Amino acid sequence: MAFSVPKGTKDILPDEVAGWQRAEQAFSGVCAEYGFREIRIPTFEHTEVFTRGVGGSTDVVRKEMYTFEDKGGRSMTLRPEGTAGVVRSFIENGMSSLPAPVRLYYMINAFRYEKMQKGRYREFHQFGVEAFGSQGPDIDAEIISLLVLFFERMGVRETSLCINSIGCPECRSVYYEELRKYFSDKLTDMCADCNERMKQNPMRILDCKESRCKVYTADAPRQLQYLCEGCKEHFEGLKSALNDLGIDYTVDPGIVRGLDYYTRTVFEFVSDHVGTQGTICGGGRYDKLVEMMDGPAVPGVGFAMGVERFLMELQSQGIELQEKRSVKVYIANLSDETLASCRKLAYRLRCGGIGCETDLVSRSFRAQMKYANKAGIPFVAVIGPDEVAGGTFSLKRMSDGATAEFSIDDSIPDINHYISEKN
Ligand code: HAM
Repeated sequence: MAFSVPKGTKDILPDEVAGWQRAEQAFSGVCAEYGFREIRIPTFEHTEVFTRGVGGSTDVVRKEMYTFEDKGGRSMTLRPEGTAGVVRSFIENGMSSLPAPVRLYYMINAFRYEKMQKGRYREFHQFGVEAFGSQGPDIDAEIISLLVLFFERMGVRETSLCINSIGCPECRSVYYEELRKYFSDKLTDMCADCNERMKQNPMRILDCKESRCKVYTADAPRQLQYLCEGCKEHFEGLKSALNDLGIDYTVDPGIVRGLDYYTRTVFEFVSDHVGTQGTICGGGRYDKLVEMMDGPAVPGVGFAMGVERFLMELQSQGIELQEKRSVKVYIANLSDETLASCRKLAYRLRCGGIGCETDLVSRSFRAQMKYANKAGIPFVAVIGPDEVAGGTFSLKRMSDGATAEFSIDDSIPDINHYISEKN
């Protein structure tokens, strides 16, 4: 029986890679313009990085992690997201001594054992940023504007930004009491998970997907009504910074996010095109996380965008990303005796940065021309005994047959100049 990919994973085939590369280039370009520097973290970490970082009450930690014991008996977990690993690295590498804000971005794969759905995979990819050391709302607005600019550069419209504030530990304890009061007489009708959530973190109940729980969550009190003065002011600051930047948003008091580390600002970019989840990107502030992971008291804020969902969005908006082909010249060989000259010319052109191909599977001359045509290679150089004897070759433009003569020793920049002018 032939092998197939594991459920929830997929191959990214050469025809699809153009979209990925364009998105990677655009994202790293925008990040660099905002002063973010790339960080690459390991694919797996000690399990506690996530149990502590992401939080024990989350579905991600309770149900979705790929956890295994390594041969040394240590518990390891494939990263279900990037923030906890970046925070671990921030602390381990003493980055709090760098000038604030420390701005990092990443492009990673991540793993969650989730039920497969449109836009939901077990191995997926995220582009994310994390910024450390800035408390005020300006940096929250700045990373949101970074995303807006990235979407704009990729030609994406029609995604909506929803923002909310889920307060700080002080105002949240008041809010949790209200939630507990509200749910106390409803728990018998609700799922076992929600009964558990009630004990650990009642806000998680608002994230429950079960319809019998959703009946009650719709009217539950929201954190926004219980913000302390400091959190209120922070949220107003975010709104006014977004207004200054001309970024449209909706305040959605229902956003609680599925991870435990958030404080104050939370936000999501949503769209109708990316499956039942609808969320292309999510993020927010995590002012206590660095401390919770045994680091110094440094606030943080960030987001992660699901790359698969983003590319689905591009596709549904009819945005096509063409692959940039680098092969410009096909060197067609006329006979066995001229094979060595073809090989040498191909290497010489490549050394000078001109992408080319030559026959490697003993095709007839006709078949070589057919191949070059089908592959969309714009120029063909035919090398036969006459060319070898005369030390010349002609470059033929496939679209209209226009030709130009070159000496085999002509300078590569001249040949390159001709190709770029005529292509
Ligand atoms: P998250 O909301 O769990 O946040 O994930 C961010 C994005 O990753 C989602 O909006 C979605 O597009 C994508 N995503 C999540 N799970 C899947 C999946 N199973 N299949 C496909 N795409 C998925 C975080 O991960 C936080 N670390 C974001 C953050 C960074 N907050 C602060 N800094």
